[in-house]
Amino acid sequence: MSDVKISYYDGTKSVKTIVDEEVPYPDGKLIVSRTDTFGNMTHFNQAFVDMSGYGEDELLGKSHYILRHPDMPAAAFADLWNTIKKGEKWKGYVKNLRKDGKYYWVYAVVVPNVRDGKIVGYASVRRKPSRTKINECVELYKTMLAEEQS
Ligand SMILES: Cc1cc2nc3c(=O)[nH]c(=O)nc-3n(C[C@H](O)[C@H](O)[C@H](O)COP(=O)(O)O)c2cc1C
Repeated sequence: MSDVKISYYDGTKSVKTIVDEEVPYPDGKLIVSRTDTFGNMTHFNQAFVDMSGYGEDELLGKSHYILRHPDMPAAAFADLWNTIKKGEKWKGYVKNLRKDGKYYWVYAVVVPNVRDGKIVGYASVRRKPSRTKINECVELYKTMLAEEQS
């Protein structure tokens, strides 16, 4: 167990406890959330709440970065935002941080929610990722993170 200081894109900083233990993605479940255009959570399903370890009141209206794990490279999220802001779909593997400090991997598909030709928010639908892909991403993200920190 260790405490890590995380700096978010909007300038906020927080200290999070990291526990190097994976919580397996629940079989047969989709983890779903929706956000406004800034990435603040407006809706989520029960599987999302359960896996995050937070209470609904701790999630609603908060930024999605509450789940950001320090092992995730910033470039992955820069790519996500660049893609969805253009109105396109983003797909990728994400290591998420739970409230208890443990982590879980997801395969996420993030789509813009368009009304009258305008982006009014975003939605993410997550599935269980394969172990092979997770292992590839562990290596890839390690390399990306090292480059970002050098
Ligand atoms: C619909 C949607 C879902 C997102 N889901 C996650 C997620 O599950 N985990 C995560 O770390 N970031 C998620 N993000 C990205 C965050 O908004 C944020 O960019 C990321 O956590 C990195 O934080 P930072 O940009 O403040 O550095 C999501 C964004 C959107 C729009």
